[in-house]
Amino acid sequence: MKKIALLTSGGDAPGMNAAIRAIVKTCLHYSIVPVGVRNGFDGLINGDFIEMNYEDVNNIIHLGGTILGSARSDEFRTQQGRSKVVHHFKTAEIDGLIVIGGDGSFKGAHVLSQEMPLKIIGLPGTIDNDLYGTEVSIGYDTALNTVVQAVDKIRDTASSHKRIFFVEVMGRDAGFIALNSAIASGAESVLIPETVTDLDQLISQIKTQNKGKRSSIIIVAEGDDEGGAMDIMRKVKPFFEGYDLRTTILGHIQRGGSPTYADRAFATRAGIHAVEILRMGKTNLMVGIKSDEIIEVPLSDAITKKSIPDVQKERIMEVLLTGSSIN
Ligand code: F6P
Repeated sequence: MKKIALLTSGGDAPGMNAAIRAIVKTCLHYSIVPVGVRNGFDGLINGDFIEMNYEDVNNIIHLGGTILGSARSDEFRTQQGRSKVVHHFKTAEIDGLIVIGGDGSFKGAHVLSQEMPLKIIGLPGTIDNDLYGTEVSIGYDTALNTVVQAVDKIRDTASSHKRIFFVEVMGRDAGFIALNSAIASGAESVLIPETVTDLDQLISQIKTQNKGKRSSIIIVAEGDDEGGAMDIMRKVKPFFEGYDLRTTILGHIQRGGSPTYADRAFATRAGIHAVEILRMGKTNLMVGIKSDEIIEVPLSDAITKKSIPDVQKERIMEVLLTGSSIN
């Protein structure tokens, strides 16, 4: 293993820079040349590579986003596009690739590994936390903390004006951010794509829960089957005469910010492990974490299997939250 390329792909996530830093430093520790690929799969197509050194990763562990940039690439989906990548990798004599991203990014890397002699390792990098086989992905903890802090602020103003707020969070078609931020922020209800949303039940439960309270907060996963927060509020508004309803869509602030300890620590450990197993000749694996142990997950599982939130988690949904019927 003489040269390892690394790239960040898909939605950026806080902690990606900690992973980049760990990969570069571990490569240099073993006299392997780390080659950064700029702007994700676009950079692969265009051969936008940069050999990296210690100074490239100095003082970045606390930075959100990704210093390498991230971008999706339609051209990568074509055989012709990928043949450009094969040419660039052969020219640059790259024999290993670490992809920091979500399942879509892993799919692309997996295809590449079948079209050329290239060892591939994936690091789970997405705030959605929807990757199978790992308890958390890089960025998830920071995004959760961002949402909880935002909801605390919304609670302040909701209570001042006796309002009911529908707060939309990211997660694409997964409900991890919604479910766990609802638990930690004391939301009255949470709507997630993995459970069937019963609007009649939600309406009656909001009214019941709101009695004697100055505010109610319903967290809505953007992928919910009944739509986002604006849709939900529009659908239930006719049943809330005399109530003051508002919506907040948190959006891309969930993707930024300085990574928490948890994201920095996992990203660092995973980055080191990725280089170590490439050196051993391993390939087509995703580095994950379970019970604080770094583990290896077949990339094919991370690509094909789905991770869903545990809605029965210590019966929290029944005791603390309402608004979703448990399947
Ligand atoms: O996958 C991460 C994510 O933030 C999703 O939660 C969200 O739906 C999507 O990316 C937004 O994508 P973009 O940044 O391209 O708008």
